[in-house]
Amino acid sequence: MIKIAPSILSADFANLQRDIQRIHSADYVHVDVMDGLFVPNISIGLPVVQCIRPVTDLPLDVHLMIDRPVRYAGQFCDAGADLVTCHVEADTESEILRALSDIHNHGKRAGVVLKPGTPASAVLPFLDACDLVLIMTVEPGFGGQKFMMEMLPKIQAVRQYIDALHPECELEVDGGVDEKTAPLCIAAGANVLVAGSAVYKAEDIPGRIAALRG
Ligand code: DX5
Ligand code: ZN
Repeated sequence: MIKIAPSILSADFANLQRDIQRIHSADYVHVDVMDGLFVPNISIGLPVVQCIRPVTDLPLDVHLMIDRPVRYAGQFCDAGADLVTCHVEADTESEILRALSDIHNHGKRAGVVLKPGTPASAVLPFLDACDLVLIMTVEPGFGGQKFMMEMLPKIQAVRQYIDALHPECELEVDGGVDEKTAPLCIAAGANVLVAGSAVYKAEDIPGRIAALRG
């Protein structure tokens, strides 16, 4: 089954509770955490995750776009994250592995993220420790960017690694996913689709979520 993870980066932050309740028919709430260093933008931090935890029953899918995520991964688990993903580019291999085990030690699900310039093979050292792999289909930092078609072969390559080595791992895509690009991601092997503007710009949000599922 295809899962939809609306990104609240496209929500109205002055009405965040309302905008989270508007996506009740989705599968995850995607929370983009940016530190202004790993990416050129600053967004949501720990206090916001704590505040949104009680207003939804959906799992919180926290995408850490921060340098050295091992410093904060456990704190995001304590704040209410259900799944925490760390960029492989954000630290050394051993420190990313340490972040993943810290997340697991908190009883939560863990994953790694690949930026567009990072090859599919970069997931291999982490795959055994991942409940999910996230492939960026835009440069991380901002919502509303155009889907990078050239990422489709990478999605296929990671799907092959997952099927061969760790079939229960989920495969998520993030960036520029809309009604046109969602079927391409699904055909390439993704099973979780992040969508920010495509969901929040829709007149009929539950209808758009259903349409993205295909
Ligand atoms: C970008 C974020 C995305 C973003 C997606 O750095 O990781 O989650 O919100 O937004 P859309 O779907 O508008 O590309
Ligand atoms: Zn994201």
